[in-house]
Amino acid sequence: MTSRPVNKAVIPVAGLGTRFLPATKAMPKEMLPVVDKPAIQYVVEEAVNSGMPDILMITGRNKRSLEDHFDRVPFIEQTLENKGDLDKLAMVRASSDLGEIHYLRQGDPKGLGHAVLRARQHVGNEPFAVLLGDDLIDAREDLLERMVEVQARTGGSVIALIEVDPEQISSYGCADISVVEGEDYVRVNKLVEKPAADEAPSNLAVIGRYVLHPAVFDVLEETGPGRGGEIQLTDALQTLAAAEGEGAGVYGVVFRGRRYDTGDKLSYLKAVVTLASEREDLGPELREWLKDFTADAEA
Ligand code: G1P
Repeated sequence: MTSRPVNKAVIPVAGLGTRFLPATKAMPKEMLPVVDKPAIQYVVEEAVNSGMPDILMITGRNKRSLEDHFDRVPFIEQTLENKGDLDKLAMVRASSDLGEIHYLRQGDPKGLGHAVLRARQHVGNEPFAVLLGDDLIDAREDLLERMVEVQARTGGSVIALIEVDPEQISSYGCADISVVEGEDYVRVNKLVEKPAADEAPSNLAVIGRYVLHPAVFDVLEETGPGRGGEIQLTDALQTLAAAEGEGAGVYGVVFRGRRYDTGDKLSYLKAVVTLASEREDLGPELREWLKDFTADAEA
């Protein structure tokens, strides 16, 4: 059993964002604004607020604006200070005071498993988290902390699962699980990456939060290309789920809280509207407008 605190988070951001072309022709998809912050900032804030100030982003071409975003911009800060716009100044500073962010290029775009393997040297021999940028978990939830606890208790690797409609399962990794009596986590027996609906072992979908035992690195080294010709993290976790010994075993936390998907256009629009409508400054007017808008659209 290992109970070292998890203080490193790996965030793979090398994806091309083809679903959002042409918006993502010259801009990373992670920089798309969700209300007034880029999507990636929510993810970094979640890691930091879950006790992981050491962040490694696995980046690629076209991603330089991510580094710029988390860096200081003295000129903007000075301008806001001169104007006495202290609220905005605080917000601008906050985005460059989020832990210590490291950047490493993925090199070859060989899939999520490959991106995670690139983190090996930085992470070393300790459990670590992986956060995927398409999933936003509401700041009021404590999913990642719960997963860290389960990792410490089980000594294995931990994934986050949600229940989806059966016809949606082919967009996700899918888990076959067993209930663990008296525990708030489940045991993962089997994982399949993006199965067809009629071949899926369940309707439990893997979402983009993982707390992994470093044993995953050795497994990833040996994992060949899987679905889509890419090295899949799901396949490496399937190997760990079936293995025995130090670092083996995969466990799942079934999440029923607030989550926003920014990975495709429709979900992204829903995420923006949901988060904006909950904001004190924008919510009341936006909700009023939405009511009129839907009434007009129905008429
Ligand atoms: C990745 C994983 C998949 C998981 C999903 C969650 O897929 O491979 O198992 O369900 O993230 O967002 P991607 O969405 O990157 O294709």
